[in-house]
Amino acid sequence: MTMDHLLSVDQFDRDRIDALFALARAAEPVARRRKVCRALEGAVLGNLFFEASTRTRISFAAAFCRLGGAVCDTTGFTFSSMAKGESIHDTSRVISGYVDALVVRHPERGAVAQFAQATHVPVVNGGDGPGEHPSQALLDLYTIGCEFARSGRRVDGAHVALIGDLKYGRTVHSLIKLLSLYRGLRFTLIAPPGLEMPEQLCEAVARRGHHVEARSTLLQRLDELDVAYATRIQRERFSGESIEGYTPEFRVDKSFLDTCCGPQTVLMHPLPRDSAPGAHDLSTDLDTDSRSAIFRQSDSGVAVRMAIFATLLGVERRLQGPLPDAGWRSPQRIGPNDAPFYTLDAASRGWSA
Ligand code: NCD
Repeated sequence: MTMDHLLSVDQFDRDRIDALFALARAAEPVARRRKVCRALEGAVLGNLFFEASTRTRISFAAAFCRLGGAVCDTTGFTFSSMAKGESIHDTSRVISGYVDALVVRHPERGAVAQFAQATHVPVVNGGDGPGEHPSQALLDLYTIGCEFARSGRRVDGAHVALIGDLKYGRTVHSLIKLLSLYRGLRFTLIAPPGLEMPEQLCEAVARRGHHVEARSTLLQRLDELDVAYATRIQRERFSGESIEGYTPEFRVDKSFLDTCCGPQTVLMHPLPRDSAPGAHDLSTDLDTDSRSAIFRQSDSGVAVRMAIFATLLGVERRLQGPLPDAGWRSPQRIGPNDAPFYTLDAASRGWSA
């Protein structure tokens, strides 16, 4: 598969998703520190983050490094020449003279596409304001497939609840479009009043033959729910709205999962969760519950982003060939609360579409 830039999930169909995820599975032993790959030895990534980020910036960087490349980065406007009035065009063209790929996060919708217009070096959208976050949606879908593989479920026909700030949450904007490439899904969209999913996205998904239902309260039974995907309230994107956000009844916690969902429900969240008092974002009482896939989800970021770089830079074959073992010691399990089935040696988790 050839791809010039990764700007939107609109660039994908099911065949392209399958090709990318086959590569992500090949990347797993490297992402899980069991094998070493030098496919991008000598290559340099420019990681330009003009908005706050922890996992997206670090996992893109880790993915590039695990492919043998090196990373240069800049964070925020303050320390970039944009603070001196430099345009997106000039910034993009200048940095492209130094690096082999760019990952850009920017607070304005469409800004990353403008970076791409000024260069032939591949540009990846690491989040453009409330617009899209395609690599997150890809790793979310990859995680869903991995989780479903354990219980023989398929994405076709799944019931997915998207919960929280569906108006400004770019992760859910990209994810609902990507999931709508599958067949016969049921979406329950649960948002506090004022933070509903944009109408044109709901209509596009319904036109593809999916069932879409919107609700403004959380505590109602969700029949045969396969995925509960919670999101943070994106206060930094509010433009003067007086929206309360999550009230205590909106909190996704163990009691919600036990009473409204089911034993098979996979709990997801793109993270970060807002742990400030009164935020009522995803509760920590689910951290020891193996239905919570939130850290398996964030871990998936490295393999999926390795697959994205391998595709953009044309080194797919190098990732799929035999790879040498890693020579250093690393743990069997990453986190003390990780589910028993989740070890670093379970190198290639299954994937079921
Ligand atoms: C998300 C983002 O930046 O859109 N985080 C992420 O990349 N995993 C979600 C958020 O900030 O709430």
